[in-house]
Amino acid sequence: MVHVKNMPKLILPSVIGHRGCAAYAPENTLVGIHAAADLGCTWIELDVKLTKDSVPVIFHDDTLERTTNGAGKVADITLAALKDLEAGSWFGESFSGEPVPTLEEALEVIIERDLGFNLELKPCPSREIETTEAALDILSHYWDEPEKLLLSSFQIQCLEACLDAAPEWARGLLLDEEFAENWQDIARHLQVSTVNIDGNAVTDEQLEYFLSYGKPVLSYTINDEERYDYLRARGVKSVFSDMPDLFL
Ligand code: G3P
Ligand code: MG
Repeated sequence: MVHVKNMPKLILPSVIGHRGCAAYAPENTLVGIHAAADLGCTWIELDVKLTKDSVPVIFHDDTLERTTNGAGKVADITLAALKDLEAGSWFGESFSGEPVPTLEEALEVIIERDLGFNLELKPCPSREIETTEAALDILSHYWDEPEKLLLSSFQIQCLEACLDAAPEWARGLLLDEEFAENWQDIARHLQVSTVNIDGNAVTDEQLEYFLSYGKPVLSYTINDEERYDYLRARGVKSVFSDMPDLFL
């Protein structure tokens, strides 16, 4: 494994709009990116996965039901068929007709709004490597500010693929409540720049342990002022929030 020299110095904000800003606009949509920027966010987080025909799209779940008017698996739908669906009215009638964006479409808005970007690689099962490679390929055509880009994933395979294909872009290791005991070895192996934890489940002791790794700790998904104050006072660098205006 090559040791990556000269990793970018990430310019991380205190608050990152989660899935855009998921409390105020439908998650993972272009209108959500604009809403986050309008609120004053300087960074947003979005999730990416592949359609059946291998196009990276901005989408959280493996299935369509919760956030679109379609049904079935994202991995079983082509981009053309996905574009016939809409991803807004489940959230509110005023958002009706809002499409599922491709990564490319999202990047155009992110760049237009001059935002920092945390792309969470959230592959459908068994599509870890191809999702990562397709997303990196598109990013490579658009992104030229490495200090404003963080690639994160719960999937080690995705982060390994990032390390192989784009070592100079910062990686964030996402950990959930049941994080592996050897997470520090994994973080070292992946040469991550951040450790992204569940800030609602974390105990005092665990938080100290995460912070002791020496890399910025980021915390999802914080929509509560007391929790925000606690995490920030302990040294958490950034929180992901559906309601970023609470903390801006
Ligand atoms: O990347 C932080 C957070 O988005 C991880 O969880 O399920 O909201 O993608 P999830
Ligand atoms: Mg996410």
